[in-house]
Amino acid sequence: MKIGFAKPEQPLCGAVIVGVWEEAMPTPTARRLDEVTGGAIMRALSATPRFKGKKDELLPIVAPANLSVSRIVLAGLGKPELADAQLFQRLGGNLVAHLNSAGEREATAAVDVGEGAPIDETEAAAQLAFGAQLRAYRFDRYKTKQKPEQKASLDRLTVATAAPGAAQRAYTPLDKTASAVFFARDLVSEPSNVIYPETLAAQAGTLAGLGVSVEILDENKIRELGMNALLGVAQGSARPPRVVVMEWHGSGDRSSPPLAFIGKGVTFDTGGISIKPAAGMGEMKWDMAGSAVVIGLMRLLAARNAKVNAVGVVGLVENMPSGTAQRPGDIVTSMSGQTIEVLNTDAEGRLVLADALWYCRDRYKPRLMIDLATLTGAVVVALGHHRAGLFSNNDELADQLIAAGRAVGEEVWRLPLDESYDREIDSDAADMKNIGSGRAAGSILGAQFIQRFVGDVPWAHFDIAGVAWSSKDAPTVPKGATAFGVRLLDQFVARDYERE
Ligand code: BES
Ligand code: MN
Ligand code: ZN
Repeated sequence: MKIGFAKPEQPLCGAVIVGVWEEAMPTPTARRLDEVTGGAIMRALSATPRFKGKKDELLPIVAPANLSVSRIVLAGLGKPELADAQLFQRLGGNLVAHLNSAGEREATAAVDVGEGAPIDETEAAAQLAFGAQLRAYRFDRYKTKQKPEQKASLDRLTVATAAPGAAQRAYTPLDKTASAVFFARDLVSEPSNVIYPETLAAQAGTLAGLGVSVEILDENKIRELGMNALLGVAQGSARPPRVVVMEWHGSGDRSSPPLAFIGKGVTFDTGGISIKPAAGMGEMKWDMAGSAVVIGLMRLLAARNAKVNAVGVVGLVENMPSGTAQRPGDIVTSMSGQTIEVLNTDAEGRLVLADALWYCRDRYKPRLMIDLATLTGAVVVALGHHRAGLFSNNDELADQLIAAGRAVGEEVWRLPLDESYDREIDSDAADMKNIGSGRAAGSILGAQFIQRFVGDVPWAHFDIAGVAWSSKDAPTVPKGATAFGVRLLDQFVARDYERE
């Protein structure tokens, strides 16, 4: 889908979208169109009392005979004083879905920003385009027999606004964000026979073209470093593990300590010898979503030339049962020297992160570390699919992340850490065990485990098991891989670490 910006006076064709505020109050553009159409819009509004102009509401009306347009869609904008970036993004996304299901090929959306709105028209136009772009994402590479009506019909969306040049300039960085989000969504969506540790590492390697320095650690190097917790997970698979380290130097001072992002990259999680049930196991192809988000974020920071030093570290393994697989009860010595009794081989993400985090801290002395992982089914029980779980040893960092998430519509909820939980992973045979003794507080125990490998570095952990993949369409996220975290962390970096 192509997106462009134009002045409202342009001749119209295809579908035309105009806004209506709450209480069915037409915007100035809707009023003008009403005049041209001999009152078609006011007639539609009075004939459809259910349409109130609330946010996210759409009302399609048949195009009048005397116009070159195929249809008019009235878009609810809610209260003018509450119309923010999120509203226009969601509107863009909802429009794409609506117009695609109507089979429309071309559309023009007018942007009206009311009195006292917290956003100006140029920004609103760019945000509408951004939302449209995010929703237009599809992963249909393996569909060889799509019927025309299954394909996206909309190939051109024009956003009508008084200052199209300025809107285009405001959109350019958002378009870069969308590309990075799509890159991450693609990686998550690819099946595990295509994306496995070596091929995922090679995908990360493409960031070199943007000025990221990428180092791929192979199995020998990983062994040399003593990452035995990570190696234990990988040992049942025919596919060798990889650790990828991505450095972005965007700050004036190359040597200033970086922000560090660490991702769980289990390219398939069978559970290992503690094998998962067959039903739904295919979902575990996206157990590498945390690593895809880190790779997507690093790509975005480089693409927009972020004024910050950042490092991304991803631990890539496949968790398989086999004659060489790790057994429940095995004890491994992690890179940190701490020993781990592996009582459940399905609690593998924390084993991968333990070594990745320790390595990152040891090598980079980062300013802070943030990890992302599809770590526990328990976080889905607790928070469902609407929010990621957030854990942190630092209140200021947690607050910054919560605010960044709110700003981009990727919501998180903080859960606790403390010593009484920590004691539950003490082991009789080793320094710690990788599961607690029951099912209680599963997500917290996972976070406590990881915390044992971060020392005193300000750290946050996102458990994204509930939000990495979606079975329902949302306004700016079609069902499937979400790339949850790319936008949140980009916002966090831009807001809190590039302005100082
Ligand atoms: N990758 C899973 C977590 C997961 C479950 C992600 C469902 C997405 C949807 C993780 O490796 C896992 O298996 N965790 C176990 C931990 C348990 C053994 C302590 C779980 O949640 O059951
Ligand atoms: Mn598992
Ligand atoms: Zn897993």
